[in-house]
Amino acid sequence: MATQLRESNRPNPAALVRPDAVHRSVYTDPDIFQLEMERIFGRAWMYLAHQSEMKEPGDYVVRHIGSQAVILTRGKEGEVSAIFNRCTHRGATLCAFDKGSAPHGHQCPYHGWMFNADGTLRFVSWPKNYDGVLDKKDFAIQQVRLEEYRGFLFGNLRGDAAPPLVEFLGHMKSSIDDLVDRSPAGELECGQYVLRHYYRANWKMTFENLNDTIHPGFAHSASVVSAKAVANEVGGPGAIVPTLGMMLANGKPIQFFQDLDMVTAPGGHSYIGGHMGADYSPDTGDGYTRSLIEYHGAEKAREVLSVDRHLTLLYPSSFWHARYQTIRIIRPVRHDLTEMIGFVFRLKGAPEETYRNAIEYCTGANSAASPVISDDLEIYERCLLGNQSDAREWIPTSRGLHEDREQTNSFTRMPATSEAYIRNQFAAWADYMGQA
Ligand code: FES
Ligand SMILES: [Fe+2]
Repeated sequence: MATQLRESNRPNPAALVRPDAVHRSVYTDPDIFQLEMERIFGRAWMYLAHQSEMKEPGDYVVRHIGSQAVILTRGKEGEVSAIFNRCTHRGATLCAFDKGSAPHGHQCPYHGWMFNADGTLRFVSWPKNYDGVLDKKDFAIQQVRLEEYRGFLFGNLRGDAAPPLVEFLGHMKSSIDDLVDRSPAGELECGQYVLRHYYRANWKMTFENLNDTIHPGFAHSASVVSAKAVANEVGGPGAIVPTLGMMLANGKPIQFFQDLDMVTAPGGHSYIGGHMGADYSPDTGDGYTRSLIEYHGAEKAREVLSVDRHLTLLYPSSFWHARYQTIRIIRPVRHDLTEMIGFVFRLKGAPEETYRNAIEYCTGANSAASPVISDDLEIYERCLLGNQSDAREWIPTSRGLHEDREQTNSFTRMPATSEAYIRNQFAAWADYMGQA
């Protein structure tokens, strides 16, 4: 790396982002990854879990904020607390599993210290050794600040120094509303289905790929050809399951995507409108629509169903798909290794078919077994390999540079073919990374 890209032997983030390009080292340099963990994942709000995942006191899940493992546990009074997954004795992790129930608290497997849901130390083994030596109050596990929006729990490592969650979400609150308002009971329940896979590339690749409307016609051309053949064989739109609908949409002419809107918002967030809309809408079937009208009234129900967002990217850690009730979370492991975890939600009060469709979509379109995602995972790896070569330092992010359609205080709208969302991500990246 050229010296001006580093200061005092650390990466110099300001020198790595230009208005229309980024330096390739942002994907390949382990030092930059380390700084991202401190300055981005150590500062932003991260979606961690849904209230329904911890139904009873003692129920817990383990999630990550960057490289930090965090335990969320429902306490005896019903509130959920988040604490680091680290015993305050010799540092062993408390929970080995991703979820479970610990109604009597979390016990460390090493010497048996026991902690309450909120991290307070309840019990040390062989306490008389510690008489006059250890005050349990001094050995509580540090809490992580939690805030909730409509049942979704977000965590922030900055504690009180972090801005309120709603400020972080800004315009993107409307994408969460879009998901919750689709429930004919006004509530969601996280299902048992969990998608999990790793890929051998940088975490930012997914953020850049999932709102990229130019690549499907190329990277996913094999599944588009197969999908068209299958659609011809099985018959009309009623026979087209969600994944097939998505594959067919991937084969639309680029003008279709040019006519769609992309929306970006401060903080690196973005979404695309209407990718799936033309071919498939199982969640607006008769039974479901009737129950939604009963709950919301006709006008509000119509308004809810008219929102058509393909995918919302909540930078830097989660991806929200309201129409198929799916949230995926990213966990950066190393600069060249990333874990993806996905959850599918039941819309309480909706027919079971709606949940089945969402699972079908998540498996067919988002899992590593999907004929679509497997293309993306290979592309991510190929970009990592290519960007490790010395052939060229700068990667352009200039597509649609001057094509914005509308700008307000809370969002900017442009054609869905624009790379404005990548420029917006790197503006947020530079902002987080620039704060020492
Ligand atoms: S490391 Fe946890 S009790 Fe000793
Ligand atoms: Fe893709």
